[in-house]
Amino acid sequence: MNVARRGLIVANWKMHKTAQEAADLAGAISLRVVDHCASVDVVLCPPFTSLQAVHSALENTPIALGAQNLHWETEGPFTGEISAAMILTSGCRYVILGHSERRQRCGESDEVVRRKLSAALKAGLEPIVCVGETLQQREAGNTNRVVLGQLESALEGVPSEDLVRISLAYEPVWAIGTGQTATAAQAEEVHAALRKWLRYEREEKIAQGIRIQYGGSVNPENAAELFAQENIDGGLIGGASLDADSFAAIVQAGIYQ
Ligand code: PGA
Repeated sequence: MNVARRGLIVANWKMHKTAQEAADLAGAISLRVVDHCASVDVVLCPPFTSLQAVHSALENTPIALGAQNLHWETEGPFTGEISAAMILTSGCRYVILGHSERRQRCGESDEVVRRKLSAALKAGLEPIVCVGETLQQREAGNTNRVVLGQLESALEGVPSEDLVRISLAYEPVWAIGTGQTATAAQAEEVHAALRKWLRYEREEKIAQGIRIQYGGSVNPENAAELFAQENIDGGLIGGASLDADSFAAIVQAGIYQ
């Protein structure tokens, strides 16, 4: 982490927890992390069906709410989809976009991610844009080409004044839910490449200010080493965010020392 950027720790609960279970977990997390929120931003992203319940559970706390996806259209015949305005009015400030599970399993292309990003920004949300390479791409030496390509495509047409509302998450696909974390050095190398791209293709100020989280099997044991890297500004936490004690320990590791 760098003192110039505030840590950002985001819980991605994926397709876990009913509304009541999610509210209970949010309450348990809140008790444990509320004192840390002066130093680090904490966000919980439950499934759509739990947004209202978690929003209520987080009332009067500094913990923010986020969604895991949205549709790029504002409204219309899109059965089963949720718009940016629906998310916003459910109490969300953030939205995760382009997660590899959606890219790989739900067929989301770079073009779809770009449209979703545009819709999120238009609605006033703070998008978290995920990028990451597969093991095959890494082994072929294509990591940077893949993640920078995803970044370039997502940010195409996004004006500089909107970029300040975006954060990035580097999530190597091979590290997600596998227990196989990228080493701190492997992650830092990609984070530095993302920041460098922003510096040369956009603006120095944007590159310096944008927060880049690492995601992929972060746990209380490896979080501190990852977050100690200059260009790693926090984490997008899946499995370990489903347990209040584990998540609280990771949040604590995200306080700039
Ligand atoms: P994980 O998931 O922490 O369970 O690996 C991270 C993510 O997919 O956001």
